[in-house]
Amino acid sequence: MAIFQEPVKKYLYQLGQVEHPILKEMQAYGESKHFPIVNCEVGRVLYQLSVLSKAKKIFELGSGFGYSTMWFALALPPNGIVHHTDSDAENTKLAHHYFKKAGLLGKVRFHTGDALESLAKTAGTFDIYYCDIDKESYPDAYHAISHRIKPGNMVVTDNLLWSGKVAHPNPDEATRAILKYTRLFWNDRRFASSMLPIRDGLGVHLRLKTPRKF
Ligand SMILES: C[S@@+](CC[C@H](N)C(=O)[O-])C[C@H]1O[C@@H](n2cnc3c(N)ncnc32)[C@H](O)[C@@H]1O
Repeated sequence: MAIFQEPVKKYLYQLGQVEHPILKEMQAYGESKHFPIVNCEVGRVLYQLSVLSKAKKIFELGSGFGYSTMWFALALPPNGIVHHTDSDAENTKLAHHYFKKAGLLGKVRFHTGDALESLAKTAGTFDIYYCDIDKESYPDAYHAISHRIKPGNMVVTDNLLWSGKVAHPNPDEATRAILKYTRLFWNDRRFASSMLPIRDGLGVHLRLKTPRKF
């Protein structure tokens, strides 16, 4: 089910393009391999949210070869750190290659293995938690993150529209998991959640100091 009409999709895609050499190279690599990266439209939002929230510590769950990680790293202040997690060691290796080329290795920590296990093993809290792992694990990600997130921090989630499948009358297993995750955040009064319907749907969940008033 198309979320956007093709000409609008093309317009937004073109509008999102950037001149940064490493981002351009990574985007071209992702497209050539049909690797599901967030793309430049979402990357711009990740950058904005990081700057807006003055984020210094970011934990990504499901980083692939580091395209979304690179957007976060570019937004961080000099002492900022983004954690890259992926179950596939080849993706970690490639992400390391791009971060070295960008001169940004000092801003990233790599974890190879299950992202939720990596999060459990990493001490501290994070200004932004970014969720993009296998969709069946999204409800587990809600529980893992919502137990440790502090007021003022936020969660950003990719694929909450899942190519429009969330509106299908008979959703498959991955879609049901996305719907469950979305309901968990939307029903949790400690969070103010919203959906940005760009690309495949980007959820933004802000952990509040006091329960929301709506
Ligand atoms: C959609 S891609 C991520 C793309 C990346 N966020 C970007 O936009 O550039 C999802 C990645 O998460 C990894 N992955 C999926 N489930 C995972 C899990 N439970 N733990 C760690 N990595 C996982 C996959 O290997 C894949 O590289």
